[in-house]
Amino acid sequence: MVHEVDPYRRLKDAFARYATGVAIATCAPPGRAPAALTVNSFTSVSLNPSLVLWSLQRSAGAYDAFMAADNYAISVLRAGQEATSTRFATRGAESPTREEFETWATGAPVLRERLAGFDCRISARHDAGDHVILVGEVLQFDSFGGKPLLYYASGYATGPDVAKAAAD
Ligand SMILES: Cc1cc2nc3c(=O)[nH]c(=O)nc-3n(C[C@H](O)[C@H](O)[C@H](O)COP(=O)(O)O)c2cc1C
Repeated sequence: MVHEVDPYRRLKDAFARYATGVAIATCAPPGRAPAALTVNSFTSVSLNPSLVLWSLQRSAGAYDAFMAADNYAISVLRAGQEATSTRFATRGAESPTREEFETWATGAPVLRERLAGFDCRISARHDAGDHVILVGEVLQFDSFGGKPLLYYASGYATGPDVAKAAAD
């Protein structure tokens, strides 16, 4: 009898005890179709300068597109957008469409339905094992009131409602 053993199961389980939001990272490199993938590694880093980061699996289907891109956008998902998360976590998912996405300063697609959006210039790429960390300088952003889609222990949950962000 063959036992399929994942040597990283215990480590994955421990990593999965860190609850996160869920976002769609997108890019539209010149001469290529736009690419999108679901990420929960997104995090804010610095206010001044305004920096964010997320990490990209080297084995991801969208790897080449993000390595060819100068920019990316991050769309933070709302509660109820599990289907969007699943779609862009599937190899060979169709490219972002004009109906679902808009573009801002950089041309990277931003999901129309979102809790927050960040349009970023890639300011650094750092090798990190089987991932590459993509640091982005935030050129444009917005945020809305509502409940976030959360990811915890390989499942989805809904976070608490927040009011609309204060006007600047
Ligand atoms: C909730 C969730 C979070 C994910 N976070 C990341 C991430 O931070 N970085 C990453 O490279 N892949 C992440 N993935 C996996 C990619 O979405 C997935 O590999 C990719 O969209 C398509 O699959 P492919 O790599 O087989 O092409 C995540 C998947 C899910 C469902």
